[in-house]
Amino acid sequence: MSQGVLYLVVCAAGPASRIDIMVELAQSQGWSVYCLATPAAVEHYLDVAELATLTGHPVRSIYRTSDGEALPRADAILVAPATYNTINKWAAGIADNYVLTQLAELTGLGARIVVVPFVNQGLAANSVFARSIGQLRQAGVRVLFGPGEFEPHPPCTGGRVLDDYPWQQALDAIHF
Ligand SMILES: Cc1cc2nc3c(=O)[nH]c(=O)nc-3n(C[C@H](O)[C@H](O)[C@H](O)COP(=O)(O)O)c2cc1C
Repeated sequence: MSQGVLYLVVCAAGPASRIDIMVELAQSQGWSVYCLATPAAVEHYLDVAELATLTGHPVRSIYRTSDGEALPRADAILVAPATYNTINKWAAGIADNYVLTQLAELTGLGARIVVVPFVNQGLAANSVFARSIGQLRQAGVRVLFGPGEFEPHPPCTGGRVLDDYPWQQALDAIHF
């Protein structure tokens, strides 16, 4: 059954190297997946040509030129992995790249947005992060952070916990 259009927003953290897992899961459940990526995710983690082939659509990280393909309206948005940087900037209203501008707009429009951070315990314990998570939740965004959802790992262990990243839980959470 077709579920509609899913924007998969990818930031520059470890699980981005496995984003094909999320794409394939979502496609298997009927979503048409469009990837939006931060410039840092493109620089450090993504093979955009491969991802475009997998999704059937170009990966968007900058504003389209007038002859580029327009994005269809999203039925849901999944931000995974979400970095400390993007979460804090988004919550603070900063829109200095394409992804943040999209998130700012979509939040304002009340779109269905699920966020799954990938941060270590040091970043997570910074009070700025808790404040940002609270602000996003207040704005109606579903943030999978806390016991039974994404739980931060000790610093310098991110590479060892990639298998635990809750891709399926993220997808299930879209139906909130
Ligand atoms: C190898 C590497 C691993 C990183 N891992 C994380 C991470 O797990 N979580 C995080 O929030 N930032 C992580 N960062 C830092 C972000 O990539 C950095 O803050 C970047 O500016 C985020 O940009 P974005 O939010 O626009 O994607 C990592 C950076 C590198 C180079």
